[in-house]
Amino acid sequence: MTERPVLDLSSLHQSLTSPVSESMNLLNEVALRYPQAISFAAGRPYEGFFDLDSVHRCFETYRAYLVERLGDEAAVRRELLQYGRTKGIIHELIARHLKTDERIEADAESIVVTVGCQEALYLVLRALRRDESDTLLAVAPTYVGLHGAAQLADLRVLTVSDTEGGVDLDDLERVTRRARARGLRPRACYLVPDFANPSGQSLSLPLRRRLLQRAAELDLLLLEDNPYGLLGTQHLPTLKSQDEDGRVVYLGTFAKTGLPGARIGYAVADQRVGGAGAAGLGGLLADELAKIKSMLTVNTPPIAQAVIGGLLLENGCSLITANAGVREVYWRNTEHLRRGLVERFPYGRAPSVQWNQPAGGFFSVLSVPFAAGDELLGVSAAKYGVLWTPMHHFYAQEEPCRQIRLSVSHLTAEQIDEGLDRLADFIQDQSSACPAPPPTNVLVAKKGRS
Ligand SMILES: Cc1ncc(COP(=O)(O)O)c(C=O)c1O
Repeated sequence: MTERPVLDLSSLHQSLTSPVSESMNLLNEVALRYPQAISFAAGRPYEGFFDLDSVHRCFETYRAYLVERLGDEAAVRRELLQYGRTKGIIHELIARHLKTDERIEADAESIVVTVGCQEALYLVLRALRRDESDTLLAVAPTYVGLHGAAQLADLRVLTVSDTEGGVDLDDLERVTRRARARGLRPRACYLVPDFANPSGQSLSLPLRRRLLQRAAELDLLLLEDNPYGLLGTQHLPTLKSQDEDGRVVYLGTFAKTGLPGARIGYAVADQRVGGAGAAGLGGLLADELAKIKSMLTVNTPPIAQAVIGGLLLENGCSLITANAGVREVYWRNTEHLRRGLVERFPYGRAPSVQWNQPAGGFFSVLSVPFAAGDELLGVSAAKYGVLWTPMHHFYAQEEPCRQIRLSVSHLTAEQIDEGLDRLADFIQDQSSACPAPPPTNVLVAKKGRS
């Protein structure tokens, strides 16, 4: 028998050996290894409203809509079952949804429907990376998937501090100017302005305006990623809805407001693309993204698009109303978590345990008096039966920091109570085992109080 060739891992793409890919794998593995543990780690939508029957119904709703538009069954069959339009088939409904819920006036032609927001991210980063000097700025802590997509695109990421309520504009300017002085070409700054993953922070309205202005002064694009904006008790105008000069590429997903299993996301890329090689007066960035998509996933499954299309049609293209029930669950869980933390870490008695209180989304951040890394996560899972996410993963650093991310989006009140009891025991034991900490570097946190 001939020996199978052995591939040297170090000869494969560098993303495969990066801490980022380990970050992405770590949590799945820990959760599988300790199925009995209560997980504050998974940023998963609540499953209580998942309903297979509604999937069929939404599909039929979209089918009926197509019959009316296309007139004949053969055309409908082709639209749903054949290879299809690279930019997607539900772009007009998404444009209506953006106008209704976010007051974003998007030309449907500027929308590319993608396989989750993750693909949209990749397409944009891939398009922006021409050569080694191209650089992305990202507000840190950052969604791990952004680093993953950047690595796949071989794109350098420089981080910008979030200390000024979601983004530090002076740091943005400093990092941009320093990068340019080094001969780098900062192309865009990525951020999640609403209930960010992982910090839970939201940018205030004045800060959004100042950010748009500063981005124009610095000649940067902004990549606005907004999976959680409709899932809060406050709803601020998106950057894109205030984007008068086409500086914002908007990234969306129906994973949190529709069905994660449909894997439907999108990019709104209405920037003009001109210069040598551009067609005529220049097309849209969306069309360039579509070219990359045609080389990657060809088109987003029309069957999955039909389900989300039906969901939009059944709700007048508004997901604000469609998500009223789940928003209530998230709000109740967040309040339950907050009260539980106040009870277990009373103000004054545990001064080095602090947390922030986002008004929506899935995440909050807890500061603890010890470096909470992967090793301690293992201890927490095995000995205490509770999982959480070490925050250092969101800073793309291996060195653990004194913060953990908590999510209660998919838990019941009983699970939150039990999980908090376990977490409090774990924190108590670790705190007594470690020396007194230096002052905390809480990113957002005020002491949570009732
Ligand atoms: C900030 C952020 N962006 C993008 C995504 C990915 O979205 P999708 O599941 O649509 O790929 C997530 C998922 O958790 C996220 O938190």
